[in-house]
Formats: sequence, structure tokens, C-alpha cells
Amino acid sequence: MSSLEDLIPTVNKLQDVMYDAGIDTLDLPVLAVIGSQSSGKSSILETLVGKDFLPRGTGIVTRRPLVLQLINIPEDSSSIPEVDEQKSESQSPRENDDSNEMTLEQHLRKNTGYQSNSVVEWGEFLHIPDRRFYDFKEIKQEIENETARIAGKNKGISRIPINLKVFSPKVLNLTLVDLPGITKVPIGEQPADIERQIKNLILEYVAKPNCIILAVSPANVDLVNSESLKLAREVDPLGKRTIGVITKLDLMDSGTNALDILSGKLYPLKLGFVGIVNRSQQDILLNTTVEESLDNEEQFFSRHPVYRTISTRCGTRYLAKLLNQILMNHIRDKLPDIKARLNTLIGQTEQELATYGGTGIITNENKAGLVLQLMNKFATKFISSIDGTSSEIST
Ligand code: GDP
Ligand code: NA
Ligand code: MG
Repeated sequence: MSSLEDLIPTVNKLQDVMYDAGIDTLDLPVLAVIGSQSSGKSSILETLVGKDFLPRGTGIVTRRPLVLQLINIPEDSSSIPEVDEQKSESQSPRENDDSNEMTLEQHLRKNTGYQSNSVVEWGEFLHIPDRRFYDFKEIKQEIENETARIAGKNKGISRIPINLKVFSPKVLNLTLVDLPGITKVPIGEQPADIERQIKNLILEYVAKPNCIILAVSPANVDLVNSESLKLAREVDPLGKRTIGVITKLDLMDSGTNALDILSGKLYPLKLGFVGIVNRSQQDILLNTTVEESLDNEEQFFSRHPVYRTISTRCGTRYLAKLLNQILMNHIRDKLPDIKARLNTLIGQTEQELATYGGTGIITNENKAGLVLQLMNKFATKFISSIDGTSSEIST
């Protein structure tokens, strides 16, 4: 599994039940990537999402925060008729003329390799309401345009985020934040205090206790100089919600390796370190797909003379698993609260029934029935699936 897909069925089930019960307490952690410029932050996020859509490259590319909200939709809600309607109703003036002539399916096939039986997914920007982007290349282009619109064309940084929602049956409901890299020396239009400005911008996101920090450090730079770990320590001094991510392991000088770092001997983080090999600039130019790059990465670790001993704990696929585990633990921690709320709901219903003397008033009967149904659904389908026990909800 290349992304966070594993958790989708469980989280969906829970969110359905909670939605029916009017409870919304799951507030899954936000994941933010931090690190120096060109350390590989955007590359990691892109691979975790499993799509090509983030501007990446050498130099300063990410110049505004990108708040990326992944929204899971059922397979059939992305059906063609709904999309068709959207298309004819709010034809965007930005779309070029020849795409107007095409059927939607032709349009999708041209732009996304869409096949009639394949999944439809799209992005929507907060700053362009009512337009769905089916072509992820266009999403990338729009991020670039919108970055330049606010932050200028000459390397400027802006703290105003770009908000993008991605709707897909293949994503977990989760918010990821891509952040500008930490730089030391101002270039272009950047102000003299660029370093402090970027750090403050990053702190806005990672200071929140609900944020899981992916602190990225490139392997070809000494860990003691890691900007991301320094910054993470400011807000998470005990290293409880920081994952250390070491990128560019393929670019280390021959004869050197990061085994000590990866096995946690050099720097204390409860969630540990994960080694990564992202797509290189060359891979980007050759249009290597996300899936290919994940396979290459896996081979790199399993064939490496040093890393092959720890290869099952390396790579982006492992990072995704680790994140799944963290989210799962988060949900498990929330269970007592959710149970308590359901119990309150049941109590209220019982009280209401008693007020009416239990004399079969239909709405209340329905309500009680509904709550019982919810409890059943909740206890059998969800709790047992993650606790490994069949938790009874006491009434
Ligand atoms: P960001 O500035 O931290 O968001 O970094 P990007 O994801 O934009 O990557 C910067 C450049 O480094 C791109 O050209 C990537 O292809 C390259 N890059 C990132 N990670 C790796 C890696 O693990 N190995 C190699 N060889 N190149 C990488
Ligand atoms: Na970059
Ligand atoms: Mg970036």
C-alpha cells in the first residue's frame, strides 16, 4: 500500500456513525512537513498522496503554505452524471475553447488518462470556487500561478496559505501542510529577516499540539545542523509528535551511511527516524511515476549493503504505515470520549421516553431505535475492528 489508504474503511465507518449521532470529535492530526529548502518536503507529500501535483524542484519552489485537505468520497459519488452537470453549469472562463467541444469523458481521458470504469478524483481551490480540476497537472500549474500572484515572481514568500481540497475515493480524510523551506540568506525580493519570517510561518502550523511534524533532513547535510529538528524541538521538546525523515540517502558520499541516525542512536525521537529516497530531479524530468519511484526506493533499501538489514523500516511506504499507526492510536485515544458521548445520547433518549411515559410516541421510539442501531454499528463494526476485542457499550 503506497499511501494512507489502509485506514480509509475504518475511519469512514467511524465518521458515518459519528455523523449519524451528531458527534464530530475525531479531529485527526494535521501533518506538516518542515525542513530546509530543497530537502524533499514537497516530494514526500506528493508520494504520500500518491499523485503528481505539487510543484517541486531545485531552488525555492514552495513559497506559500499549501493546506491540502484530502476528502474521501465514495466511488459512486464521483459518477459521471454529477460531474457532467457541474461542467455545464459552471464552465470556467479559464478553460480553453477546444476542451469545450469535447465530451467530459474525452476531456478526462485526455488530461488524466481517465477510463470509463476508473475512479474520478478532483481538486478544488478555495480561491477559485465552483471549479473542479480533474487534471492534476493543471492543479500544479494553478498552485504555481497562485503562488506568483500573491508572493510575486521573484522568490518572495507569503504567509497567506493556498487552500486545496482533493476529493477522491482513494484518500483518507486528512489535512497535510506543505511549507516553504527554511533559508538563511535572502535572495531576490526576500527581506533581510527572511530566516525569522519563514520560521515564524512554520511555527504557526507546528506549534499546534494536534500537528504531527515530519521533520525532514537531507542525508548529505550533517544532522547537528538540521534546521527542521531544531525547529521541531522548539515546539515539541520531548519529541513526542515529531517523525524524523532523512531524505537523499542515495546522494550520500560513498562509504558513509545514516545507519546510526535511522536506528535512533544519534537523536531522541519517540516516533523515530525514517530513511527516504525521493524522485531525483532527473526522475522528474523523465516523468517517473509515483508508483515506479516507490518501487525504485524499495529496491534501493533492500539491495543496499548497509540498509538492507533495516529495509522493512525504511522508505515512503513504511512512512505511510507509521503514519497510519499514529492516526490509529489517535482514534483509539478518542474512543472513550466517543463512547461517553454515545452513552449520554442514550441517556437523553431514555429520559425523553420516560417523560412521555414510554407511551409509544413514534418519533421517540424511532430515536431510541436509532441510537441502539448506532451503538450496534459502532460496537460491532468499529471498536472490535481496532481493539481486537468486542467492546460492549454499557447503558
Ligand atoms: P522541498 O524544497 O523541500 O519541497 O524539496 P523538493 O521536493 O522540491 O525537492 C527538491 C529537489 O531535490 C528536487 O529536484 C527533487 O527531485 C530532489 N530530491 C528530493 N528528495 C530527493 C532524494 O531523496 N534523492 C534525490 N536524488 N533527489 C531528491
Ligand atoms: Na525545492
Ligand atoms: Mg517544496
